Amino acid sequence: MAKLAALAVLASLLGTVSCELSISLYLRWGYPPPSPGRPYPLPAPCPPLSPTPALKVGYYADKNCPDAESIVRDAVWNATAGEKAGLIRLFFHDCFVEGCDASVLLKKVEGQPDPEMLGVPNLSLRGLNIIDKAKEALEAKCPGIVSCADILAFAGRDASYNLSYRAINYNVPAGRLDGKVSLASETLGKNLPPPFGDLNLIKAMFAAKGLDEKDMVVLSGAHSIGRSGCSSFSTAPIEPVLGNQLNQTCGMPVNEATTVPQDFETPDALDVQYYRNIQSRHVLFESDATLTTSPQTKRLVDFYAGNRLLFGVLFGPAVWYEDFGKAMVKMGYIGVKNDPKEGEIRNKCWSVNPKPNPY
Ligand code: HEM
Repeated sequence: MAKLAALAVLASLLGTVSCELSISLYLRWGYPPPSPGRPYPLPAPCPPLSPTPALKVGYYADKNCPDAESIVRDAVWNATAGEKAGLIRLFFHDCFVEGCDASVLLKKVEGQPDPEMLGVPNLSLRGLNIIDKAKEALEAKCPGIVSCADILAFAGRDASYNLSYRAINYNVPAGRLDGKVSLASETLGKNLPPPFGDLNLIKAMFAAKGLDEKDMVVLSGAHSIGRSGCSSFSTAPIEPVLGNQLNQTCGMPVNEATTVPQDFETPDALDVQYYRNIQSRHVLFESDATLTTSPQTKRLVDFYAGNRLLFGVLFGPAVWYEDFGKAMVKMGYIGVKNDPKEGEIRNKCWSVNPKPNPY
């Protein structure tokens, strides 16, 4: 608590603070990190997230679209493992910028500032085609009813269920509206944590969204699937044998188009291998490795990895699947829009609806 208060003081010294748009952090930069030693300010914490009364499990059953969730599920089940990983990341990147309002899906409009989609961390997003497919099928079945923001939330759940071999399963409260604002300048350096972030920074960036240290450790477990571009990490902190292999795969100078699995043991399984990889420094990002640098986060890493007994039993791995679902639901409460003044149900997920003709 004292630490959070200190962060708030620090942030307020540095600039304006709001829970929706945390303070303007550092200058915009791409991966890899800027010159060493450049300090970056921390965003202020926001109150812990709590369930949003406007969201309900089974929301679309009452809205004359009872098949909404199964239509999304069908689209996700036909996706590749890479697209499924992309869908889980899409939900995270959507929720952390402007709240869970599908702002990440909006395409560039001539004459307007670049949308989120063109922010550095979003250039490698995958799975957007699956969202479009689901939306098309939904519009054919029940037009104008299901928001793109909810499609993202359902798709994140369905991808998790599938990649975890059905171990992660949770109900998704729905009823979000789609936002109308999307700015690339709100992504890296403002709301999305950088891969070279240390514990203080990533903790503060999660706290700025109302998520705690445990949510952060639990959700980072999504790095047990998917791929990373070679320019997103430095091999310096990685265990030397893996580091050398990565140097060879990525080339020197680094080939920006080359990607590597995030988890070399079980690359397409959403599982607790990530926590074992942290222990052996077989992880790509500083933001992963840093989770062992405080006793509290290290205890969680060891617990989920299956190295800590609770009442003499190894609960950790089984508990993680449950905790992951809970944390995804919690993340889904960030910045929800449910007032028609601030949101809408888009016709197409990549574009805001045309303004009604005033005549
Ligand atoms: C702790 C803060 C986090 C940082 C710094 C971070 C950073 C990154 C980076 C740099 C990549 C590789 C991108 C690329 O080079 O293409 C990545 C991939 C990924 N991240 Fe994160 N991430 C974080 C948290 C999360 C969370 C909370 C989730 C979801 C719950 C998530 C899900 C993923 C997934 C699934 C991929 C693989 C995507 C694909 O294969 O297309 N990450 N992350």
